[in-house]
Amino acid sequence: MRQAVVKPAMPDINLERRCKRQAWAPTHRFFAVTAPGLEPLCAAEMAALGLAGVEPVSGGVHFAGRLEAAYQANLWLRIAGRVLLRLRDFRVRRWEDLERQAASVPWEVWLTPGAPLRVQVALHQSNLKHSGRVEEVVLSAAAARLAELGLDAPTPAAAGDEQAQSLLVRGQERRASLSLDTSGPHLHKRGWRAQGGTAPLREDLAAALLLLCGYDGSLPLLDPLCGAGTLAIEAALLARRLPPGGQRGFAFENWPCHRAAAWQHLKAQAGQGALASAPAAILARDHQARPLALAQENAALAGVAADVTFNRDDFFTAPPPAGPGLLVMNPPYGKRLGSVRQARDFMDRLGQRLRAAYPGWRCGVVLYRPEWAGLLGLKEEARLAAPFGGLKVTLLCGSIPRE
Ligand SMILES: C[S@@+](CC[C@H](N)C(=O)[O-])C[C@H]1O[C@@H](n2cnc3c(N)ncnc32)[C@H](O)[C@@H]1O
Repeated sequence: MRQAVVKPAMPDINLERRCKRQAWAPTHRFFAVTAPGLEPLCAAEMAALGLAGVEPVSGGVHFAGRLEAAYQANLWLRIAGRVLLRLRDFRVRRWEDLERQAASVPWEVWLTPGAPLRVQVALHQSNLKHSGRVEEVVLSAAAARLAELGLDAPTPAAAGDEQAQSLLVRGQERRASLSLDTSGPHLHKRGWRAQGGTAPLREDLAAALLLLCGYDGSLPLLDPLCGAGTLAIEAALLARRLPPGGQRGFAFENWPCHRAAAWQHLKAQAGQGALASAPAAILARDHQARPLALAQENAALAGVAADVTFNRDDFFTAPPPAGPGLLVMNPPYGKRLGSVRQARDFMDRLGQRLRAAYPGWRCGVVLYRPEWAGLLGLKEEARLAAPFGGLKVTLLCGSIPRE
């Protein structure tokens, strides 16, 4: 016979009433962190979702709403890195200001008793001079509040534990803020990527290039240098109106105040709104078998295998597919091509091929040397620069002239 598991009795703190008052009823302020440069695109995504109070600033976008607004943002934003809930935003002159603010947070609705917690502190010309002490003050305020209610204090998160709850303290000159991470692992981790492959494009950058080019799935799409398939897979998710976060978990799902029914409802709604298949062709080509196999595996894991056609083809000799449509690419760069001169020559050849075989197509390119944009011969329509893995990349969108 199975023994019934006896759980330690949780003190009766009337959690539901506390959650209602502190977490469910109020309008919260949120901040979606983006790679610098991608803020306007992320703000446009938020506006399309109907989120309120959307205000792009350097490094991210503010918005406001009930808890469900953060659920929606995590589920749907293709370009954000994470979504923060602002718990407190205050003027700080001395340590007591931080102590008082941290003590006023109803930690019992946000933190699971005894669960790992990481406090990240960023100070920029702040009146608070010592990040170790900031961490101590905030942790002991949370522990004291939980202990008063008979609940266990958070435990320190192990280094590299991506599942641990993060709390961010930011001090900038005379202001400071306490924010709770709602996302967990970085949002570009959609939950579908198989291991392996070299130089995959990050998913948020891939989505940014597609959105910069106005891709909505209605025109044919070609990635002739597809590698592990990120651009084609992100395109298929967009074309089918599938949420980028539909296959992963989020930090908010572990909060005591999590509204599981509302979350399930949002996910079910997303499922109902998705198209059964992409409305127009999505074609991914590469001249090597290995990346193509990986791209196919990734597409299957992402649930879009039937939406993308994979072909082993050389860009310089394969005929263009039916079009015109949108051609997107993340050309090889740096060491993979040998010298800088070889990389430049490759870009030059790409430009010649685009002009010869793809007149009338639109083209979106990830560039590591913006000064080479001219080699492609595009009639430029939009461009933005964003950092990526220590490099500054430029996303460029234009049309290929009909000569
Ligand atoms: C930087 S990777 C693309 C990475 C891809 N965006 C991803 O997310 O994984 C460039 C790819 O271009 C392919 N490639 C290079 N020259 C090519 C050519 N002439 N025809 C087709 N593919 C080519 C390489 O095999 C490589 O997989």
